[in-house]
Amino acid sequence: MDNIVIFGATGAIGQSIARQLHNEGASVFLAARHEAERHSLASELGARHASFDAHDEASIAAIIEEATKAGPITGLIWAVGSILLKPLGKLTKDDFATTFALNVTGAALAIRYASDSLKAGKGSVLLFSSVAASQGFAAHGAIGAAKAAVEGLALALATEMAPDVRVNVIAPSLTRSKMAAPLLSNDIMAKGIAQSHPIRRLGTGDDFASLASLLMNPEHSGWMTGAIIPVDGGRGVLRTKG
Ligand SMILES: NC(=O)c1ccc[n+]([C@@H]2O[C@H](COP(=O)([O-])OP(=O)(O)OC[C@H]3O[C@@H](n4cnc5c(N)ncnc54)[C@H](OP(=O)(O)O)[C@@H]3O)[C@@H](O)[C@H]2O)c1
Repeated sequence: MDNIVIFGATGAIGQSIARQLHNEGASVFLAARHEAERHSLASELGARHASFDAHDEASIAAIIEEATKAGPITGLIWAVGSILLKPLGKLTKDDFATTFALNVTGAALAIRYASDSLKAGKGSVLLFSSVAASQGFAAHGAIGAAKAAVEGLALALATEMAPDVRVNVIAPSLTRSKMAAPLLSNDIMAKGIAQSHPIRRLGTGDDFASLASLLMNPEHSGWMTGAIIPVDGGRGVLRTKG
């Protein structure tokens, strides 16, 4: 029986993945900070759920302990994150600490607390980096560094935890979500960013759900680990036509 924990389950991507996995018959545990949205999604799916804060190690450990009560964890998805856009001159030490806590350290702690259970469940871990991990964008100093660290973390853990546990990464480009909302509030700017993708639109949560499901399922992706997979409308490696 699947036992898949989704951290950041009330985000745009986390929600889409939770619905897809639930519709396919998996048992999902929703870990999220936002109370009202977590309760609403949990009652829609009839799913187990609890709150956590990525800055609070004990709350991450408690999620793993709670989720493990249903049996070994077969999947762990860390869909927590942020987009902090500031030029270097405005970035503080706290900005780096917060960005790393949300994107890297929290994920590493969740996997650490879950590692015995993941090994027992021959589990699959999915992390999210960004197109900004491998391509330069102005004002992305903190988030670009953190997302590159997500990829480094995934490669190290994919090696360390093999062959029992697989660890893969999806690298999105700009996707309609809470964190992207400030960048997309201006229609002209949103259209301009959409046009910078060879597939000329922004991402949606649903663009990630089927791939996440495939990566969770060892029958479909059992020989995939350490993969960093762009889901980015082509923006990471292609140039747009004129
Ligand atoms: N959206 C994009 O353009 C984009 C681009 C590249 C990479 N990504 C990555 O894709 C993943 C999913 O993001 P998304 O697109 O679904 O964005 P989203 O809708 O903004 O979701 C982000 C999630 O992170 C959670 N979160 C933020 N701070 C937290 C904290 N301190 N403790 C616990 N949870 C916290 C949010 O919780 P609340 O629901 O409580 O706010 C939310 O559920 C993230 O890793 C993100 O960095 C997204």
